[in-house]
This record gives sequence, C-alpha cells and structure tokens, in this order.
Amino acid sequence: MEENKKKLTTASGSPYFENEDSMSVGPRGPLLLQDYILHEKMAHFNRERIPERVVHAKGSGAYGTFTVTNDITAYSRARVFSQIGKQTKVFLRFSTVGGEKGSADTERDPRGFAVKFYTEDGNWDLVGNNTPVFFIKDPKKFGDFIHTQKRDPKTNCKSATMMWDYWSLNPESLHQVLILMSDRGTPYSYRHLNGYGSHTFSFINAQNERFWVKFHFKTLQGIKNFTDAEAVEMKGKDPDHAQRDLVESIERGDFPRWAVKVQIMPEAEAKTYRWNPFDLTKVWPHADYPLVDVGILELNQVPNNYFAEVEQSAFAPAHIVDGIGYSPDKMLQGRLLSYPDAHRYRLGANYEQIPVNRCPYAVNNYQRDGQMRVDGNGGDLPNYFPNSFDNIVADESYKQPSWDLGTSVADWYDRNGANENDHYTQPGNLYRLLTEEQKRNTISNIVGAMSGISGPKRDTIILRQLCHWFRADLSLGLAIAQGLQVDMATISSAMPQAQAEPA
Ligand code: NDP
Ligand code: HEM
Repeated sequence: MEENKKKLTTASGSPYFENEDSMSVGPRGPLLLQDYILHEKMAHFNRERIPERVVHAKGSGAYGTFTVTNDITAYSRARVFSQIGKQTKVFLRFSTVGGEKGSADTERDPRGFAVKFYTEDGNWDLVGNNTPVFFIKDPKKFGDFIHTQKRDPKTNCKSATMMWDYWSLNPESLHQVLILMSDRGTPYSYRHLNGYGSHTFSFINAQNERFWVKFHFKTLQGIKNFTDAEAVEMKGKDPDHAQRDLVESIERGDFPRWAVKVQIMPEAEAKTYRWNPFDLTKVWPHADYPLVDVGILELNQVPNNYFAEVEQSAFAPAHIVDGIGYSPDKMLQGRLLSYPDAHRYRLGANYEQIPVNRCPYAVNNYQRDGQMRVDGNGGDLPNYFPNSFDNIVADESYKQPSWDLGTSVADWYDRNGANENDHYTQPGNLYRLLTEEQKRNTISNIVGAMSGISGPKRDTIILRQLCHWFRADLSLGLAIAQGLQVDMATISSAMPQAQAEPA
C-alpha cells in the first residue's frame, strides 16, 4: 500500500480487505453470514436517520460572532454584554415551521431564528422567529394548533380548512396570521429577514434590579420578500433556495449581519401598561418602548458537516445565563419544559455533549451515565452532592430577585386584564402601516389561502374569519369579502352569530 494512503476500516478499526464485492458461495452463489463488513455497512445505513424535529424540521445553520456596540450594563449584568467590543461566538439555525425535513424553503410560513451564544456563563439560547408575535398565547393550545399546520389525518395533505377553522375559532391568532399573509410570510432568504426573541424575558443588573426585555435582530441586508407567485415558482426551481443562498453568501465572504436591539420596560410598569406585556400575541409599540442598540450579529462560518452541526443542534428557551431571566409569559413558561424534553427524545439524554451543543467553558455537575455518554462521564470524581472530596459549590451570588405574585392558582384566562381580549387593534395598526402594494399583496394572499377552505363547514369558517378581518380593519375586511365574493348582506346577517361562536 502507498505510504500516503489511509486504510479503510470497520467502525472498530479493523482494515477492510474488500469494500464492494460481498462474500458469496462461488461467483453466483448466496451470501455468507460471516461477511461482517456487509452487515456493518447495511446496519449503520439503516440507522442514519434520527427523528426530525416535530416542528421546524427544515433548517439551515451557520456560526458567527456577536459583538457589543453599546453599553447596556445598566440593565443586564450578563457577561456577554459586559463591555463594548466584546465578542462571543454564536451558532444560528434558521428554519421553516410546518414542513418536513425535505420541504421547500419558500413555503408561506414563519421562519425560525434560533441563536446559541457560547458565553462564559454557559450557553444562552434565544429561540425566536422572524415575527414578534405568535398564533396562541397559552402553551396548552400548541399541539392542537400545530396539528392544523401539518397534514390532514385522512388525506395526508395540508388542509386550508383545518388551518382557517382553527384560526377563526382562536381570534388571538389574527396578528400572527396577518403577518404570515403579508409579504413577510415568504422571505426571499434567511439573510433578508428580521429575528425576534418574541417573548418578554428579563434582564437583571449588578444591583439585582429586574427589567422586562424584548429582543430584536434587524437585518442589515434589508428586508426582501418573494411575492406569492415567485415563492411558488422557486419551490419547483430550487426547494433549497434559502440553504444555498446562506452557504454561498458566507463562502464568498459576504457575511450576513443583524443589528441586535432591545426594548426595555422597568419592572413595575408591567402592572399598569395598557397591554399585558407577557402576552405573546401582542407587541410593545416602539413609541412606548423604543429600540435600544446592543450590538451586531454576523454569520461568517458554514458548518463543515450538516448532520453533525445543524441537524444535531438543540436549542432551549430554558438555557439562559446570569443577567438574563424568564418572565411570566405563559408560552415561554411552557417552552421551558418542552424543548429539553424534545431533545432527550430526538438526540438522547446526553445531547448537551454533542459538540455544537457543548458549553466551551467549565461544566461541573453530578449527572452521570445514560446512553451515548462520551465525555468521560466524570471519571473517578464523586457523583453525589454534598461530598467531602471535591470543591464544587452552588454560588448564591447568581440568585435572581424574587417574584412578588400575590395571586391565586387557577386555569386563568384573564378576560378583564389589560386589553387581553383585544385581538384586533394591533393587527389593524400593522395593516394600516403597509404600503398600498403591500396591502394589495396581503389581501390577495389571504383571498388565495381562504379560497382553499372546503367541505360542509366552508361558509361558516369563511364568515367567522371574515368577521375577524373586519374587526381589525374595515377596509381589509371589505377587500377580502369582495375577493371571496361574499356579499355584505350575508356578512351582516352572520356577524353576531359568527362572533358568538368562538368559545
Ligand atoms: P412602528 O411604526 O414603530 O413599527 C412598525 C413595525 O412594523 C416595524 O418594526 C416594521 O419592521 C414592522 N413591519 C412592517 N411591515 C411588516 C410586516 N409586513 N410584517 C411584520 N412587521 C412589519 O409601529 P409600532 O411599534 O406601533 O407597531 C405597529 C405594528 O407593527 C404592530 O401592531 C405590529 O403588528 C408591527 N410590528 C411591531 C413591532 C414592535 O416591536 N413594536 C415589531 C414588528 C412588527 P421594520 O422596521 O423592520 O420594517
Ligand atoms: C422548535 C415546541 C412555540 C420557535 C420546536 C420544537 C418543539 C417546539 C418541540 C422541536 C425542538 C427540537 O426537536 O429540537 C414548542 C412549543 C411552543 C413553541 C411547545 C409553545 C408552547 C414557539 C415560539 C417560537 C418557537 C413562540 C418563536 C418565538 C421555535 C424554533 C424552533 C422550534 C425557532 C427550531 C429550533 C431549532 O432551530 O432547532 N418548538 N414551540 N416555538 N421552535 Fe417552538
């Protein structure tokens, strides 16, 4: 064998003597059980797929850098923000939501925007979308909602009827549905969209004071969208358009960048603000809480191996670091539980040891064993706490200020809370700020999508949803009704009944 060549081996390191011809009884005879190389090749191949993410299955990822450009230490003591110029390595995974792993990148869908910051205080995951709001405000609804975005149980096709039935029965979805139906529902690529942490989180400063915070990532490439027709065309031409665009731009040195900004609310203002600041179907208008500069996020490295680094990446809203905290947002609270649970199913109990997920700084704890434990398992160090042998301690200086709740336990829906049931003002405000062309596209997208509603409940669903559009903006409702050829007399007679239906 030539010196500079490497030997082909089995997974246990034994050299292959033949890689293509199976061992058989004579040139035309049956194969032999003893051809271990054949079994190993076939058996490993059979196990190449892991469960795809139950949502956000199709995605693209890249490494990059977060650089602080503005001092926000008055609000947060997180070391990631500690000084201007400080850089932190990040990994960002973009995704679509409803489609399977092989689905097209240009589907009308929100886009996931999940960032892992490898900070000295541990990995901080901000698992957001390209929209500042979401379809529901309570995690108990998530499974039902997602079922309507996936395939019909009988036809195995996507179903406009399921989607609009659900949305029309859950008017809190209207804000997000409007964004989805606007031009931003079909972004041109992952480089040309904004990211939002969406939830309200908290900042804790060095004095242990709490602020409520929302994160915004504004694309410096500019917002660029496909029209509905262009998106449909691209599905056929190049279903991996966004993946290709991201890889090619980074490889030619055209690194995509986002301006990272926050909205800050002093803790006490949450009690009196006109909107519930923990309601994920609402934004904080910029006029009330202006954007404050924080830094720049740049993507500059394509992962070498898609499966190892992108498919096996695992993000969790529960992964916060000192100086950043949760909030009472019910959706965030639900997600704290759901993601690590999903990762343990998809990747196994030791998913945090996979290199893309591993904290590059010290990790000390007493978790041991489990499938695929590959980091030495703590060696001969004690596996219990407290003990008399090591010097690992829980550091109380990381404690956050307590939450003063003073309320009762129940399955709350605070119908009398701060405009809690107003599902219409903010979507209406959004519609009214669109340009005439954006309005025309949005109306055409809604009419196109609602035209797919079929079956015995078609008219009920259409009328119920039309009432929501009317309540957001009269001209929007009229235009959609016209597009769907529903006359005003039918709408007027349906109004009270349709309004009453959502329980
Ligand atoms: P502003 O005029 O200060 O902000 C309008 C916001 O709307 C901008 O952030 C703009 O993003 C964004 N926007 C423009 N077109 C679309 C679209 N098709 N889909 C989603 N967002 C879009 O107004 P307010 O802060 O008072 O908010 C008015 C409405 O704007 C809200 O009801 C909400 O629907 C929407 N919005 C508000 C955000 C917030 O955090 N306040 C964030 C995003 C949307 P850009 O500047 O990048 O063009
Ligand atoms: C992925 C659950 C709401 C953004 C996932 C996954 C689950 C999940 C189980 C798959 C995780 C995996 O296998 O790795 C939920 C639940 C929600 C919720 C239960 C509500 C209660 C949201 C919201 C956002 C969001 C509000 C954005 C604001 C994402 C993103 C991913 C994801 C970006 C993909 C992360 C990645 O790239 O790996 N979600 N989700 N989800 N979710 Fe959610």
